[in-house]
Amino acid sequence: MNAYRITLGAALAATLSCSATAAEVEVLHWWTSGGEAKSVAELKKMMEAQGDTWKDFAVAGGGGESAMTVLKSRVVSGNPPTAAQIKGPSIQEWGDEGVLANLDTVAEANNWDELLPEVVAEAMKYDEQYVAVPVNVHRVNWMWANPSVFEQAGVEIPTTWDEFFAAADKIKAAGFVPVAHGGQPWQDATTFETVVLGVGGADFYRQAFVDLDPAALNSPTMVQSLEIFKRIKDYTDEGAPGRDWNLATAMVINGKAAMQFMGDWAKGEFAAAGLTPGKDYVCAPAPATGEAFTFNIDSFVMFQLSGDEAGEGQQHLATTIMSPEFQELFNLNKGSIPARLDVSLEKFDDCAKTSNEDFVASAEGATLVPSMAHGMSTFSSVQGAIYDAVTQYYNASDISAEDAAKSLVSSVQAAQ
Ligand code: BGC
Repeated sequence: MNAYRITLGAALAATLSCSATAAEVEVLHWWTSGGEAKSVAELKKMMEAQGDTWKDFAVAGGGGESAMTVLKSRVVSGNPPTAAQIKGPSIQEWGDEGVLANLDTVAEANNWDELLPEVVAEAMKYDEQYVAVPVNVHRVNWMWANPSVFEQAGVEIPTTWDEFFAAADKIKAAGFVPVAHGGQPWQDATTFETVVLGVGGADFYRQAFVDLDPAALNSPTMVQSLEIFKRIKDYTDEGAPGRDWNLATAMVINGKAAMQFMGDWAKGEFAAAGLTPGKDYVCAPAPATGEAFTFNIDSFVMFQLSGDEAGEGQQHLATTIMSPEFQELFNLNKGSIPARLDVSLEKFDDCAKTSNEDFVASAEGATLVPSMAHGMSTFSSVQGAIYDAVTQYYNASDISAEDAAKSLVSSVQAAQ
C-alpha cells in the first residue's frame, strides 16, 4: 500500500510540476470553526505551493445552509465560483441544472474508480460521470465525552438510552450540564437522526430517511425515538437555543458539560485545543448505535466556467484534493477519515481508527447509512421539511410525539 502511495505521490508531483499555468481558484465552503479553518488552510497552502491563487469564499454557518443560499444566488446571477462544497443528493440537483464541470478526464488519469470505496465514488457521479471530488468521510453518530466530568459524577459512558438517562440525572445532580447542545435546526436534526438509528436500527433508519416510507415515519418506533429525543432536551442548558456547534463542543472541552452528540468534525475542535483522545476526551458511538455508521462525505463540485485558466485551476484543485498527502493532512485536522481507502492511518488517533473499522464493517453488515441531517439521504427540500417538523416539535410544549410523527409524514409528502 505504501509503494502505491509513493507512486501516486510521484505522479501528482509530476502532474503539478508540468502544469502550464497557475490559476486563481475561488472556493466556497463553510469551514469557519477553529478545527475547520485549520483544515481548509491546508488546501489553500497546497494550492499556493503550486503557484495557484486561492480566493477564499467562506460562508459561516454550521451544516452549510447559509452557504447554499449564497451559492444559489451566485450561480443564478451567472457568476459561479470555481468550486463549491456540495455533497450527497444535492450533487444530483446541481447536475440537473446543467452547470457542473465534468471531471472524468482527471478522474480517469488518476484512477478514482479504483481508489474510492463504491459508496463514495457513486455519490461523486452525475449521469455516471464524475462531477465531484471527495475530501473525507465523516461519521455522524458519535458522542463526545469529558471523562473527568463523568468521573466526578461517578458514572460510566452510556451505551444504551436507559444508561444515558440514568447517567444524565447523576451528572445534572453533580452540577454539570449533561448534554452540550446548540438549538439550531441542523443540530436538532443531527441528534434526532442519531436517536432514530439507536432506537430503530439501520434498516428502520433507511426506511424512514432514505425510502421516506410513511409507515416508518409514522410508526411506534418513530414515536419512541421522538420521545427520547425530546427527553434529551431536559439535560441541555438554558443557553442552548441558537448556540453554534463549536461553542457546544467548547463546553465539553472546558468541563462545563459532560457530552455532545455531534459528527466527528467536533474532533477537529478537540484537536485544535491540543487535547488527546482517550485521555482528555472520549469518542464513543452514540447510545445503542454500536458499529452502525451514519456517513457524511464532504466533497467539492466544480462549475462550468469559460477560459483555459478556470479549467486548469479546477484540474489542480481536483488532483490536489485526491492526493494522499492532502487526504492525510486535511483529515488529521478535520476529525474525519480519508475518502481514499489506501491512505495509511498510521498517524491517525484511535477515534479515526475506530471510525475506519466501523465504516468497513458497517458496509459489510448493511448498517452503513447516509446522514439525513447532513444532506446525504434525501434532496434538500425533503431534508428541510424534516428539519422543520423536528425542530418545531423539539421547541414546542404542546406537540405530542404522535402528532410529530404524523407531521413528519405530511411535511415530507408536501416536499416531494
Ligand atoms: C459538514 C462538515 C462540517 C459540519 C459543521 C457538516 O455538514 O459535512 O464538514 O464541519 O457540517 O459545519
